[in-house]
Amino acid sequence: MGLLTVTGTPLPEPDDLDEDGDDAVRRSAGAGESSRASRHWWDRNADEYQDEHGEFLGDDRFTWCPEGLDEADARLLGDVAGRSVLEIGAGAAQCSRWLAARGARPVALDISYRQLQHSRRIDLARGAAPVPVVQADAAVLPFADGAFDLACSAYGAVPFSADTEALMREVHRVLRPGGRWVFSVTHPIRWAFPDEPGVEGLTAVSSYFDRTPYVEEDEQGRATYVEHHRTLGDRVRELVAAGFRLVDLVEPEWPEGHEQDWGGWSPLRGRLIPGTAIFVAERG
Ligand SMILES: C[S@@+](CC[C@H](N)C(=O)[O-])C[C@H]1O[C@@H](n2cnc3c(N)ncnc32)[C@H](O)[C@@H]1O
Repeated sequence: MGLLTVTGTPLPEPDDLDEDGDDAVRRSAGAGESSRASRHWWDRNADEYQDEHGEFLGDDRFTWCPEGLDEADARLLGDVAGRSVLEIGAGAAQCSRWLAARGARPVALDISYRQLQHSRRIDLARGAAPVPVVQADAAVLPFADGAFDLACSAYGAVPFSADTEALMREVHRVLRPGGRWVFSVTHPIRWAFPDEPGVEGLTAVSSYFDRTPYVEEDEQGRATYVEHHRTLGDRVRELVAAGFRLVDLVEPEWPEGHEQDWGGWSPLRGRLIPGTAIFVAERG
């Protein structure tokens, strides 16, 4: 598959083939199958992902999305100095590195060992203190109750997890009361459109309301890549059910002068329809 259908919505016909030759289908996929697929897919594709997007991501930049909204400007997490922060689906921990430079105490969690090796690679190259990393599934966080002041995720585990209601409860559990949980995902409206940067990506071809997962399968029918869709309302409900209060829902606009595509995210589409949704929530 193309890297940028990661967190995108290709909406295939049942017999479509992705770039790896795997079949792309719409079918159900449970928590175990989704996690296994994510772990293997990201281990296999981490090198290519970092190679393709490393420059945009920066070694110690905290950007929320392909629109380029940075935490340095948005300050969605509030004051981070002295705070313990859990970054979920951290990849090579670029955001955690930015947080550490501002006096926070980040822990970068990811399901993919290879992604976390890239974090270590960057730390070694910079000769800086390494970001603490943990390999784990976001649905089962290996931390004590109330261990963190803040939690964040830039396009991390959320779109890849089958049971995000459980994921939200886990994040709630490891945050202290009043702690913030901020995460970005592909804007749910994009699910209705082909994941293409050009004009073909501007015509709705599928129902926004169809939550059937996007799955790529190998010849034995095993999932090799899974993405899950929720509507905006679903996301609000799962946050509230877990005990969070929604503080803001940010839909970053495509900025003037930003001409760089990221897969299906492009200036053409970005100026017409939202590409990212950032949920800002506080633990009750
Ligand atoms: C699109 S990348 C984003 C990584 C990083 N935030 C960035 O902006 O480059 C998604 C990340 O989520 C991780 N991931 C996917 N499913 C996960 C899960 N269930 N638990 C933890 N991490 C997961 C992947 O391994 C991958 O590193």
